[in-house]
Amino acid sequence: MRALELRDVSVFYGAVRGVEHVDLHVDEGEIVSLLGANGAGKSTLLKAISGIVHPRAGSIEFFGDALAKQSAHRRVRRGLVHVPEGRRIFTTLTIAENLELGAYGIQLGRGERADRLREVLEHFPILQRHFDRLAGTLSGGEQQVLAIGRAMMSQPKLLMIDEPSLGLDPQKIDIVYDMLEEVARLGTTVLLVEQNVSLALEISARAYVLQQGSIVLSGDASTLAEDPRVADAYLGKVNDVPE
Ligand SMILES: Nc1ncnc2c1ncn2[C@@H]1O[C@H](COP(=O)(O)OP(=O)(O)O)[C@@H](O)[C@H]1O
Ligand SMILES: [Mg+2]
Repeated sequence: MRALELRDVSVFYGAVRGVEHVDLHVDEGEIVSLLGANGAGKSTLLKAISGIVHPRAGSIEFFGDALAKQSAHRRVRRGLVHVPEGRRIFTTLTIAENLELGAYGIQLGRGERADRLREVLEHFPILQRHFDRLAGTLSGGEQQVLAIGRAMMSQPKLLMIDEPSLGLDPQKIDIVYDMLEEVARLGTTVLLVEQNVSLALEISARAYVLQQGSIVLSGDASTLAEDPRVADAYLGKVNDVPE
């Protein structure tokens, strides 16, 4: 089953191109990564999928349904959750309170909230450790773990996460990536945005490489990991390399 299908999607900010003519799909259960240098259009694509920005052209389908007319809030309720760059947790609330608030915009009944919380803590015991601490006192890695835990409170069908490794030391990155693999094992499809190519390809089935708003390479993660053009895309050289 196709979890996500983008056809010919273009997003502009006024005259500035965010992304142009993007085709991309994610199958249910896959981890797919979206790679590219700073400014390539990665965050723009996630925002278009979650409904924060609106494409000028093209179509986006989520499990077969067109998203164009659905509000960002409705997309979350349907199981499409976006953990943005910078995490956006509530720093003046505890970990427990952050989790209880559930994912971005989802309202849970009391019983449901308790059940979900129990499940999330069972699957991600690391969250239990600092349960009563204010989220603002956590390290960057711990905040990222919390952001993922919070997203999982809504039992999403698709989790999109924007640069989860940014600013973290290698040990913390491992923890975050283990968590993403667990998310996938639990049946949630993952669309992962990263600048760190080798890291992302290690846990992904497939990947797309964006350069200046367009997809310049795509394929199996294992094939792309060997492809020198991936590194070239970061240096803006892909279009110069003969096929
Ligand atoms: N709010 C905005 N207003 C104008 N231009 C933007 C805005 N957000 C992003 N852009 C531009 O769109 C392009 C893609 O940006 P972005 O999607 O943030 O890239 P990435 O996430 O890959 O670093 C860049 O040229 C960026 O400057
Ligand atoms: Mg970005």
